[in-house]
Amino acid sequence: MYRTNTCGELRLANLGQTVTLAGWVQRSRDLGGMTFVDLRDRYGITQLAFNMETDAALCEQARRLGREYVVQATGRVIERSSKNTKIPTGEIEIEVAELNVLNEAKTPPFTIEDLSDGGDDLRMRYRYLDIRRNPVRQNLELRHRMAMLVRNYLSDRHFLEVETPMLIKSTPEGARDFVVPSRMNPGEFYALPQSPQQYKQLLMVSGLDRYFQIVRCFRDEDLRADRQPEFTQIDCEMSFVDQEDVLQMFEGLIRHLLLELKGLQFGPFPRITWHDAMRRFGSDKPDLRFGMEFQEVNDVVRGHGFGLFDSAELVVGIVAQGCADYTRKQLDALTDFVKRPQVGAGGMVYIKYNADGTLKSSVDKFYDADALRAIADRMGARPGDLMLILCGPAMKTRTQLCALRLEMGSQLGLRDPQHFAPLWVVDFPLLEWDDETQRFYAMHHPFTAPKPEDEALLADPSRWGDIRANAYDMVLNGNEVGGGSIRIHDRTLQNQMFHTLGFTDEQAAAQFGFLMDAFTYGAPPHAGLAFGFDRLCSVFSGADSIRDFIAFPKNNAGRDVMSGSPSPIAQEQLDELCIKVDVKV
Ligand code: AMO
Repeated sequence: MYRTNTCGELRLANLGQTVTLAGWVQRSRDLGGMTFVDLRDRYGITQLAFNMETDAALCEQARRLGREYVVQATGRVIERSSKNTKIPTGEIEIEVAELNVLNEAKTPPFTIEDLSDGGDDLRMRYRYLDIRRNPVRQNLELRHRMAMLVRNYLSDRHFLEVETPMLIKSTPEGARDFVVPSRMNPGEFYALPQSPQQYKQLLMVSGLDRYFQIVRCFRDEDLRADRQPEFTQIDCEMSFVDQEDVLQMFEGLIRHLLLELKGLQFGPFPRITWHDAMRRFGSDKPDLRFGMEFQEVNDVVRGHGFGLFDSAELVVGIVAQGCADYTRKQLDALTDFVKRPQVGAGGMVYIKYNADGTLKSSVDKFYDADALRAIADRMGARPGDLMLILCGPAMKTRTQLCALRLEMGSQLGLRDPQHFAPLWVVDFPLLEWDDETQRFYAMHHPFTAPKPEDEALLADPSRWGDIRANAYDMVLNGNEVGGGSIRIHDRTLQNQMFHTLGFTDEQAAAQFGFLMDAFTYGAPPHAGLAFGFDRLCSVFSGADSIRDFIAFPKNNAGRDVMSGSPSPIAQEQLDELCIKVDVKV
């Protein structure tokens, strides 16, 4: 037997027992007469004690142990003379009688401590060592707990977990596919699934009624902190439901997770339409942990000779409460922030509503005290507040002000990661115009149903941008953690949708023929959604990056720096696949 106990479980109640532990050497301290070794495994740390007087040879052996050596120690559990109240095993130690080195270890390239001295790249290169650290392991433990809770919640409600294929047909909509060449079918390719969307709809045609899958998805898109090329969805689909049923079911799931994992109780989640979200927060994933709603002021600012405001499609601002005493330097920094290329505003106007009731602005030349007060009244500002205003084309300006709102929220400490603000964003537009390709794309995907009351607009191309979809996103603390829709289950409507998206009948049949065929054999009304599982984990933990919740993530260039993928493959492999590579690598 390698061990009788783990390094995290022995307490005063075990005093006198002879135990065997196995683990890694966290650190050792040589105090002359005594040597102490901290032995670590997944469950905790237990102190091993070696006494020079009782066994000099054993003590010498302990002194020679290096960091991260794998050892096995047998001895008696005794009470510590100086207790460590910081760890659960801190009241006891093991008086070691036998020490066995199971494996030596090179000195690790960074310290295996909660706060490591290793940089991001180094830790990724040696991710297997990084995972030995508590914070990383705890993230994986949270992920496991969440997966168990999700499975049980859904299984209790008759959802069946069904696996769908990983090698599927490439489709042109959505992000770019990762493709896999088929050796047996030269010149032909599979795609890795961006999501199991079509398969889960087929399972509804099959009568499975309720499906879910915790499933890996692949998208070849530009990476950010909340995006990985391979990520995991909690993918769900239900038959014979309307939007309300779906929202209730999955709001229930998130409420269950918040209660079980965070001890937090929530009532019904707020719902906000996509248009309102854009108008009030400049984003389809508003962070509702704080207010600072947008205030449109076009009519009150117009006619004072300030050309920028007079000619702008939208003049809109936010009120930062209690910030009237911001210094010139702070205001300049905010102006620089909005002018950064990532935000892209031309500039920023501020109005200070001083505590004494006077007003001071960066546009005093155009606006006297009465005019400034009128703006302040419109914006709901009070003495002591600071107003920040942007102007320009409506959508662009809203997006810029959204960035400023989030920045102010962060600066004012209003975005506490342990405070949770979930909501649904509903009524997304069905179609989205793309200037580059001069055509409409499905905002969600081509299987999303229009709102029945907007369906007639499909006949009028000039109104396509106005059609609303029965589509919804769940947003948590400014992150889109999930999204889904009511599906089109009627073949005629689905065909009309393909035409709207610019597919000919032949193209639609070639791409989606199997789904269209299935719809002719009795497709039930159905709907569903998918949560980004990695994102849920990171938002629940208040972390910035989903990478922390993936055991072996890719870096921002889509590379696994540990294994060195992607990598060139041998010429024979290429030949076998009939692939000619032109890039010199
Ligand atoms: P959607 O494309 O909105 O919907 O994806 C669902 C959720 O998956 C997460 N997500 C990602 N997480 C990490 N890295 C990525 N690259 C990434 N892309 C998406 C997000 C998102 O909300 N089939 C539909 C769902 C449906 O209609 O049922 C779908 O995939 O949290």
